[in-house]
Amino acid sequence: MNILVVGSGGREHALAWKITQSPRADRVFVAPGNAGTDYDGENVDIQPNDFAGLIRFAKENDVRLCVVGPEGPLAAGIVDAFEEAGLRAFGPRRSAAELEASKVFCKDLLRHADVPTADYQTFTDPEHALRFLKDREDVPVVVKADGLAAGKGVVVCAGRDEALQAVEQIAQQRAFGAAGNRLVIEERLDGQEASVLAITDGQTIVTLEPAQDHKAAFDGDTGPNTGGMGAYCPAPLVDSSTLHWIEEHVLVPTVHAMKRDRRPFRGVLYAGLMMTKQGPKVLEFNVRFGDPECQPLLMRLRTDLVDVLEATVEGKLDQLGPLDWDPRPAVCVVMASEGYPSNYKKGHQIRGLVDADMLPDVKVFHAGTAMSNGHVVTVGGRVLNVTALGDSIPKAKLNAYRAVKCIRWPGAWCRKDISDKAMR
Ligand code: AMP
Ligand code: GLY
Repeated sequence: MNILVVGSGGREHALAWKITQSPRADRVFVAPGNAGTDYDGENVDIQPNDFAGLIRFAKENDVRLCVVGPEGPLAAGIVDAFEEAGLRAFGPRRSAAELEASKVFCKDLLRHADVPTADYQTFTDPEHALRFLKDREDVPVVVKADGLAAGKGVVVCAGRDEALQAVEQIAQQRAFGAAGNRLVIEERLDGQEASVLAITDGQTIVTLEPAQDHKAAFDGDTGPNTGGMGAYCPAPLVDSSTLHWIEEHVLVPTVHAMKRDRRPFRGVLYAGLMMTKQGPKVLEFNVRFGDPECQPLLMRLRTDLVDVLEATVEGKLDQLGPLDWDPRPAVCVVMASEGYPSNYKKGHQIRGLVDADMLPDVKVFHAGTAMSNGHVVTVGGRVLNVTALGDSIPKAKLNAYRAVKCIRWPGAWCRKDISDKAMR
């Protein structure tokens, strides 16, 4: 069957690459894609928010399954639009995507479902939020814009002054537009973070191997927050008994609560967790594969992904059987443009890609790349996701960085410590 992947990052390249390996996949289209997706699949010049264009393309090209990468189109109802057109799409409908698109909705659902999460208050009036902060003890808090803000609407504050500033920025200056119409102020949690992703058809939950990403720009988790500088899987921090605990106390009650709320959840349920001294607590839910967690996850998945995606959209995950994983860990290192996450230049030619990709157990997923005059050039901040398997996490790390060394363009850089957290 023909399959359409929507999106243009490393996650979508990994999805397209994995789907292409299925004997059931004929043509694999990516809209709009990048230089890497055009190599492993076929790029289609349609933007993810152009639902009518995507549906027209799907009908004209006999697309039997659409797989949506990013949260934006999910929150805007792309799955509903495809279904209304009589087409199948993998991902939650708009009402279920609220779990990521509204932090207020998410926190209220967690509270009602008795899922462990940080204590919080929600506000619509910034004056109330400011008064709340001034009236209470000066403790570390986190201020969050309710809506989608490309991962930037969360400010982790050391104390009251920073929190007051964050409220002003989000709710009064509207730094993230309408995303700041409502606010969540919550208790700041301490611990290591882990990502536990599950695929669910609303009934059956198939939990994936735990992963960890690296959101801070620089080594030792310092510097500004980014879209993610690397990831690895599995994360030893989440052992199998902890994973079961998370299934029982986080994933199952959330899927049930969504069903009770008449928002049945289908797709990827991604729990961002803080492993606190009192146990795992939910920081957030995402309603899609994590980027870059998806890259090491799919490197390790042996099960045919098309079977998994189709069983989900058909509500038949109970018939799928357990997933088959490569026992070897995978590490993904993000190579970024000079200046990222602030301003950076585009258009540098990337060299050494073929040498890197030829190394054993290595796959270079593209993120911010495009073709220009027959060359692969940089067009984004996060450019490549160099992913490798190895017999242990240190060996996977070594393999990934060996591949990184082959690749060059002016100003290219990466963190040097991806996966070191796993060894502590
Ligand atoms: P979120 O989008 O809610 O996951 O927040 C983005 C990042 O902010 C998380 O990955 C954490 O690093 C941090 N964060 C969010 N909520 C909290 C919290 N309650 N305590 C500490 N850090 C947090
Ligand atoms: N890796 C974090 C995210 O995809 O949101």
